Amino acid sequence: MEAYECVISKRDTRAYLDKPIVEEDLRRVLQAGRMAGSSKNTQPTRLVVVTDRKRREEVAACAKFSQHLPAAAAGIAICLPSTGSDFDAGRAAQNMMLAAWSLGIASCPCSMHDQECVKKTLGLPEDYRVVVVLALGYPDPAVSMHLGRKRVEMEELVHDERWQGKSAG
Ligand SMILES: Cc1cc2nc3c(=O)[nH]c(=O)nc-3n(C[C@H](O)[C@H](O)[C@H](O)COP(=O)(O)O)c2cc1C
Repeated sequence: MEAYECVISKRDTRAYLDKPIVEEDLRRVLQAGRMAGSSKNTQPTRLVVVTDRKRREEVAACAKFSQHLPAAAAGIAICLPSTGSDFDAGRAAQNMMLAAWSLGIASCPCSMHDQECVKKTLGLPEDYRVVVVLALGYPDPAVSMHLGRKRVEMEELVHDERWQGKSAG
């Protein structure tokens, strides 16, 4: 899939086939996360790959909106130490989701609302937290790939040279 097409067509998908991810494809996805740039090349992000369904159920129980995680083929927890920046984690996450989508693997991030719960479930060191868990799996063709959520219009998103409208000064 061409890069722009991959970016534009990727949606956060919550219904998956009961089919494991090809090992080599999972390696490629993780490699895409590994290659993400980071602030001062500190590379703070660590990944916990969860293929065991029972463990994914336990992780989902630490969150409010992760009903799709148990039925996914795999979960990837994006972990950061307290010194790490969310932007670094976000770059790794988006790299992986786009690399996955280029291989036909859909995904959706899961916010982890109970950090103590997810840290304990995944055995994280004290200083680490889980930024999101990516649910990954081959999309179920019988279910819509997304919830039909719209994006803000380009005119609202983009300001030309300076912020248009009300500003601080
Ligand atoms: C940081 C972050 C956390 C998210 N957490 C959840 C979540 O806990 N559960 C969920 O179903 N979707 C979650 N999402 C997915 C968003 O709901 C999704 O990106 C948005 O609705 C747009 O979806 P679309 O690209 O399919 O239109 C999360 C997205 C981001 C960026």
